[in-house]
Amino acid sequence: MRLVQDRIDARLDLETGHLARISPAAGALVNETRQLMTGGKRLRSQFCYWGWRAAERDVPDDRSRRQLDAVLQLAAAIEMFHAAALVHDDVIDHSFTRRGHPATHVAFARRHEAAGWRGDAAAFGEAAAIVLGDLLLDWSHQMFADGLAAVPGDAERAASRSLVSAMTSEVMVGQYLDILGEHAWPVLPDDTALERAETVMLYKSAKYSIEQPTLLGAAVAGADEPLLATLSAFGVHAGLAFQLRDDILGVFGDPDRTGKPAGDDLREGKRTVLIALTRSRVSTTVAHVLDDMLGDPDLTDDQIHILQQTIIDSGALQATEGLIDDHTRRALAALADPRIAPGARHELADLADRAARRAR
Ligand code: IPE
Ligand code: IPE
Ligand code: MG
Ligand code: MG
Repeated sequence: MRLVQDRIDARLDLETGHLARISPAAGALVNETRQLMTGGKRLRSQFCYWGWRAAERDVPDDRSRRQLDAVLQLAAAIEMFHAAALVHDDVIDHSFTRRGHPATHVAFARRHEAAGWRGDAAAFGEAAAIVLGDLLLDWSHQMFADGLAAVPGDAERAASRSLVSAMTSEVMVGQYLDILGEHAWPVLPDDTALERAETVMLYKSAKYSIEQPTLLGAAVAGADEPLLATLSAFGVHAGLAFQLRDDILGVFGDPDRTGKPAGDDLREGKRTVLIALTRSRVSTTVAHVLDDMLGDPDLTDDQIHILQQTIIDSGALQATEGLIDDHTRRALAALADPRIAPGARHELADLADRAARRAR
């Protein structure tokens, strides 16, 4: 996806100029962004591109070129939007690494320490990351605006715009529900824990990671309602499989491969589907021990190991793998719809499979 990276780089070059005119000290903001934007699997932009290809119709070359231009710009905007979400997510989740490097708030804290500035380095780092996340969100929306302006056709542009406008608030509400789940679970009924965890993963991740990028690409091509419904089913199921895998990697992942800390979700006390399934499968006594340990930021490696073993022994890991298989199967089944352009079917299937089975 070299062409998407070019668009990201072009925006960063533009913003480098803007920021330099304000103050040379603001350069750190773009430099940290460049660092962050060198990594990542770029799944969202690929779903956007292949969503477009899935809805491709016979249109004159010139229109097809203009659609491609819009799709690339929108795909780059989604990656920028994702980066904004990640910068804030790592503050929210107290995560120290991202894409194999220090998380943005940690990188700014280190700048503080290295320069010998005054005050609390960690607080400075978090404050800077809040500001940078806001900047990236703004840049992403400028990129969305450019992409939308480039979409040929009023109906196509309107359909694309409504997808973009739903995305930000859905992710933010999903993030809020995720944090809420972490804190409010003791006073909420156990029998709704699984359902709550499913709502969280749908909104904080599945939709913006796969469903909406795919639909956005298809909307640019003027996909009709039945095709959009098919791609939505594909995207939601592939997105849920993607996030269930993320939850497994958040507990069992190898930090050298994920680029994220090991056991992160346990130290943070995330109330994921994996945890809900574990709690529903162990005795009340074990559930209490689990509850005591989850969310303790000082968990030792041995304690992490005990929690991992509990999750495995309860059968919850296997059950989650089963859910990933189910969702992947349903995503792939949606692709059988003959409305999908044959050239895109295989690529979307391959992408969904990679999203579900990844180790990073
Ligand atoms: C991580 O997404 C954040 C989630 C929504 C789970 P990715 O796993 O796609 O992260 P990158 O872009 O490859 O770093
Ligand atoms: C991230 O979800 C969701 C967004 C960035 C909006 P997680 O917190 O589960 O993802 P990771 O594991 O940190 O990448
Ligand atoms: Mg996180
Ligand atoms: Mg999070």
